[in-house]
Amino acid sequence: MSTHRPADDDADVTGEADARTSGTAAGTEQDAAVKAAGLGSSPQDSGRDRSEHERLATEALLRTDDVIAGYVPGVNILNGCDFYVNDGELVGIIGPNGAGKSTLLKAIFGLIRVSSGTVRLRGEDITGLKANQLVAKGVGFVPQTNNVFPSLTIEENLEMGVYQSPRKFKQSFDFVTGLFPALGDRRAQRAGSLSGGERQMVAMGRALMMEPSVLLLDEPSAGLSPALQDEVFVRTRQINRAGVSVIMVEQNARRCLQICDRGYVLDQGRNAYTASGKDLINDPKVIELYLGTLAKA
Ligand SMILES: Nc1ncnc2c1ncn2[C@@H]1O[C@H](COP(=O)(O)OP(=O)(O)OP(=O)(O)O)[C@@H](O)[C@H]1O
Ligand SMILES: [Mg+2]
Repeated sequence: MSTHRPADDDADVTGEADARTSGTAAGTEQDAAVKAAGLGSSPQDSGRDRSEHERLATEALLRTDDVIAGYVPGVNILNGCDFYVNDGELVGIIGPNGAGKSTLLKAIFGLIRVSSGTVRLRGEDITGLKANQLVAKGVGFVPQTNNVFPSLTIEENLEMGVYQSPRKFKQSFDFVTGLFPALGDRRAQRAGSLSGGERQMVAMGRALMMEPSVLLLDEPSAGLSPALQDEVFVRTRQINRAGVSVIMVEQNARRCLQICDRGYVLDQGRNAYTASGKDLINDPKVIELYLGTLAKA
């Protein structure tokens, strides 16, 4: 695992209200507003300029290039998605409901078929590899829902994380409980009896057991109280500082951008816009469309 981590200052990750978009209608209005604001291009746009992505992604740890994917033949959800994360980076992905954020993570993690384009890890083409192969190569994934085994104890959940390499258990258990001491203290408790926030820690811990070089997190703060959301964001940055590159999908856009090194705004299955977290959080168009009126205060 890399220990490289870009220097950053301590952004405030507390006390901000959630600026979720709500429902398909909001998403549709936002899609129109995105175009009106000149953020991004339509999926039908052919021949768009991909040179900036090509220029910036040369040293990427993990990258997608012009990825087209969906769930039903002929219906593409990802429409030529360019994305990259560098070694040591924490990258956030925000965007309206239904934009394809979860779909992008599923495409990277081999859970849906990529019909065109590539996913590469350290330059190696990993497009279409199975989840177990990707885990062995150092990619970890925490899905949006159903991400723990409720009938198993915390310790057994963590064991499941290293089922491919059981000999790693002791070292990995120490690594994970170093990050999340509560998981060690309560190792015999069933995951089903934990609070939502505690379950999220177990789910992250399980994915970290293989000591991945890159961790994909799908809405880790969803459904949690504000206090527990704060904990998830703080923990995520801690994981990143421990040397794990992180790709974090979040509807809690403001907090996500506060902690990430770089962010993407995903719109209609295509990365509409990318910049540093700080630049996005101060961008009037992003404020208008994704951060809500609270951000203007
Ligand atoms: N299993 C599936 N089968 C068919 N279509 C799906 C499936 N999962 C998602 N979709 C569709 O793909 C599109 C993108 O969904 P996705 O879950 O990637 O959005 P998202 O950006 O993660 O949204 P949210 O913020 O609500 O989590 C949506 O139109 C959705 O209806
Ligand atoms: Mg999603």
